[in-house]
Amino acid sequence: MDRPESAGRILVVDDNPQARELLRAGLMAEGYTVTVAERGEEALASVAEEVPELILLDINMPGLNGYEVCSRLKGTEATRLIPIIFLTSLSDLEDKLRGIEVGADDFLTKPFRKVELLARVKSLLRVKRLNDRLDNAENVLFALANAIEAKDSYTEGHIFRVATLALKLGRRLGLSADHQESLWKGGILHDIGKIGVPDAILNKGGRLTPEEVTQMQVHVTVGERICQPLRSIRYLLPIIRHHHEKFNGTGYPDGLQGEAIPITARIVGIVDMYDALVTDRPYRPRLSREGAFAILRGGAADGTLDPGLVASFVTMVQEEEEGLAPVPGAVAPAAGAVS
Ligand SMILES: [Fe+2]
Repeated sequence: MDRPESAGRILVVDDNPQARELLRAGLMAEGYTVTVAERGEEALASVAEEVPELILLDINMPGLNGYEVCSRLKGTEATRLIPIIFLTSLSDLEDKLRGIEVGADDFLTKPFRKVELLARVKSLLRVKRLNDRLDNAENVLFALANAIEAKDSYTEGHIFRVATLALKLGRRLGLSADHQESLWKGGILHDIGKIGVPDAILNKGGRLTPEEVTQMQVHVTVGERICQPLRSIRYLLPIIRHHHEKFNGTGYPDGLQGEAIPITARIVGIVDMYDALVTDRPYRPRLSREGAFAILRGGAADGTLDPGLVASFVTMVQEEEEGLAPVPGAVAPAAGAVS
């Protein structure tokens, strides 16, 4: 029989020695590298030592059961993409539903046929490898964002500060986990399109000419084009495209107004502006926090910035300064701030 081109690393977790051995031998015969664990705790220790590409997981085990093991692995960033197939002698719908709830990728009902086992393992490994490649592509973009920032000593650390503050504000407003992830990643990637803007314009000491302003503004659409092909980060495109829109519709590139501007883009826009104000720039020294707050409040008053978000942001920074920062996620959204 043909061996797989590249064998996968599989962890088999089952408290039944015969079942464990059967799976191990069957998979090894197909060229896979197999590690075994008898209990849930042992499985977690094994994953911590070496991350497998796929896990075959028994449900009923003494100690930590399969649901608990799966739930912990799927709740951890480093292990959430490992496909997990539940091995179960249960055909009860309730058990299957519980498995889906904790993030199982597939189920095999005992006694299973070897051909079925191998087909599922092969197909999930293919998906896993595809995901790994997407993740790698994402990493390349983050590295690129860092490289762009490193070209300009004035903005060092800017994108991570923007990402951190945007995420904190999102938590404070009670935004969803998806929005929070967008704020963190979008905070880092929002200006990636600046790679298409000449350095002479990015680092210019004086005022930009109207033509230079136009050249600078294309960074939002260039950034969108760079990230568009990568399906796994498509949800960040609204931040990249719209972080320079203004609340009263005078921003770019689409002149969106009010809550038509995605909330994540409004947040990144405000935080980005604040961080730029409190750091030195080629064209001016840094402002004090109070000076920056005054400009943000001015933006809220003249209609260019979302007043609810500005108020929440200023309060958040002030509280942090005074050491009164509440536990993230503990504060209810400010009225009207969340669309
Ligand atoms: Fe920008």
